[in-house]
Amino acid sequence: MPAISASAPAKIILFGEHTVVYGHPAIAAPVHEVEARVTITAQPTRSGPPEIEAPQIGLKTTLDRLQADHPIACAFQLVAEALGLDHWPAFHLRLTSSIPVASGMGSSAATAVALVRALSAFMGHPLSDSEVCALAYRLEQRHHGTPSGIDNTVITFARPIFFVRHQPVEFLTFAKPIHLLIGDTGIKGLTREAVAGVRQRWEQDPIGYGNLFQAIADLTRRAKEALMQGEMEVVGTLMTENHRLLVEMGVSSPELNRLVEAALGAGALGAKLSGGGQGGIMIALVHPQNVHQVGQALREAGAVNVLSTEVPALPPSR
Ligand code: PMV
Repeated sequence: MPAISASAPAKIILFGEHTVVYGHPAIAAPVHEVEARVTITAQPTRSGPPEIEAPQIGLKTTLDRLQADHPIACAFQLVAEALGLDHWPAFHLRLTSSIPVASGMGSSAATAVALVRALSAFMGHPLSDSEVCALAYRLEQRHHGTPSGIDNTVITFARPIFFVRHQPVEFLTFAKPIHLLIGDTGIKGLTREAVAGVRQRWEQDPIGYGNLFQAIADLTRRAKEALMQGEMEVVGTLMTENHRLLVEMGVSSPELNRLVEAALGAGALGAKLSGGGQGGIMIALVHPQNVHQVGQALREAGAVNVLSTEVPALPPSR
């Protein structure tokens, strides 16, 4: 069995986080920077159970010693079921990730996608993207309750998507590349809690929250057109409006709001939190010539990390 490597990118949600859980549309894009990837290598060894090493989380063990509900053990189990395997050969699996955890960049989904890809490829049966996506979704369900499926989908296909739960995914081709800065508050945001909080408030105020959800759904559809027409000012304005509605939904934080204000003050076309919120990251849409200025403003406003990324207009050739 030859050595293999597999990887998966981080992601950002451009529009529609949270409301996507309720069947409304959302737009997400992969982050192709090397500073935001999960990479896995698998190499045959002479004997023994699979060895697993994940330096970022201080893990160095063997498969038989992992708790059955550990995300890595679950990935082995699901892939074994999918391939009809009754045992694993001896090999060494090394997982490295540069995606900050609990930050809204899809670290858990990228880990799930990369594991499913690596394990199936190592066994000589690489699964198709659709199969990888479906298994990664099952892994996300085990660990995150009721995920919408947007994270595993955008990460598996590594292309911008217009996503509606339980509907076939729509791939988007933007009219122009878009330049974004990703500012990390450095505060961990627990998506599961943020999602549960929205549900509780929605149950208490179904009409008010229903109106907020509808307003985000409408601007997400408008944003799709604007991205496909290359109307960057419109995209930016809609991003900022989406942020304002997320603030009203109670999923932002003072730190996120400070970064959004700083980006807008430094000339960003638009800015919003991205992902589960209550910490984690925000994104700012910028003209390429403003990247430096907005990046500096984000750092001065408290961002612990700022990543510049471009979402290309055309899908990457793979
Ligand atoms: O925080 P993240 O990156 O897991 O993003 C979650 C997006 C939500 O819409 C808040 C939840 C979901 O399952 O879609």
